[in-house]
Amino acid sequence: MSTIGIGVVGAGNIAEFHLAAYAANPDVEIVAVADIAVDRARARADQFGAASAYASVEELLADPAVDAVSICTRNDTHVQIAIAALGAGKSVLVEKPMARTVADAEALVAAEAVAPGILQVGYVRRWSTNATVLKTFVDAGDLGEVYYAKATCLRRAGNPGGWFADRSVSGGGPLIDVGVHFIDIAWWLMGMPTVVSVTGFTSDRVGDRGNIENLTRWRSSDHDASENTVEDLAGAVIRFDNGAVLNVDVSYSLHGRDEVGVRLYGDRGGAELEPELLVFTEQHDTIVTLAPQIDSTTFEMEAGFQNEIDGFVAAVRDGTPSAVPATHGLVMTKILAAIYESAASGHEVVVA
Ligand SMILES: NC(=O)c1ccc[n+]([C@@H]2O[C@H](COP(=O)([O-])OP(=O)(O)OC[C@H]3O[C@@H](n4cnc5c(N)ncnc54)[C@H](O)[C@@H]3O)[C@@H](O)[C@H]2O)c1
Repeated sequence: MSTIGIGVVGAGNIAEFHLAAYAANPDVEIVAVADIAVDRARARADQFGAASAYASVEELLADPAVDAVSICTRNDTHVQIAIAALGAGKSVLVEKPMARTVADAEALVAAEAVAPGILQVGYVRRWSTNATVLKTFVDAGDLGEVYYAKATCLRRAGNPGGWFADRSVSGGGPLIDVGVHFIDIAWWLMGMPTVVSVTGFTSDRVGDRGNIENLTRWRSSDHDASENTVEDLAGAVIRFDNGAVLNVDVSYSLHGRDEVGVRLYGDRGGAELEPELLVFTEQHDTIVTLAPQIDSTTFEMEAGFQNEIDGFVAAVRDGTPSAVPATHGLVMTKILAAIYESAASGHEVVVA
């Protein structure tokens, strides 16, 4: 194919990041945008010069000019749309969380295995330069064996409301929304070890903090502050078959400091990916901290999406395997489901 025809399903907030990155990729033509709110699809199509705006995913998938699809809809539709798109012969970039249940994730893995196209899960943090640089250090053995890691994303007043706060649509709160990014990046940097068991907890004592004024925050396109059925806070201890442990804490609402952290501890060295890339080790019986000199030592959203979408387009163009296949999304889905199950039961959950 000369240029790759792109269709974007879901024309809300995150679709704009996808569309801007496709628009900057010379191998792409943005062909169509679809949204059940067709005015929103039309506005995004006009904004990015797409020929067609559709009111349904079925119309977009029937468009022969569409070779590959970004799925930017709310969480409850990801798997159904991804399976339909793969079945229509399209390649797929599906936003996180890939799935809300293990059964759904397994169905998508099965669809991916027989599809002519590829599927890439939208773990955008893996594509950030600070992450790819740290991965080269880890893979070269500079940290030795990583036996402990921490993944933190604490928001003081960060509940987006709307469908994000409706468990029946989203599948959960900060754990499935932002926790999935931080658990995935830590797991990937740890070398993707096999999960053995999970102990988790959730809390909902603070609420969505919809009363807070004078503070701009990420809002769902259909924000309605009246409904909130998701946790405020979640945490977990995840054990792997190589003996390593990953400690997680994430929140939408918390009386404490906003914080992001991805930290790795190995027997030869350690590292912080977030809040800022640093490597900790020792040389000549002296403790040293390495501060890699790169354009950005933290995660930046526009650059992360550009790298993610450039990687997806290159794989579709070259016919190479997905860098982030549905099998990775299945592992994340199993971890998230086990954390919620452990929180509900109060017991450790063995992950098969
Ligand atoms: N990678 C990231 O950092 C990141 C950041 C934000 C959101 N997200 C993910 O992106 C997805 C969308 O989030 P958002 O913030 O853009 O939400 P949003 O509410 O702003 O937009 C979702 C859009 O999908 C449309 N939609 C819903 N069901 C549809 C269907 N069946 N067919 C077509 N359109 C449909 C809605 O009308 C809406 O316009 C979510 O899964 C979210 O988890 C990822």
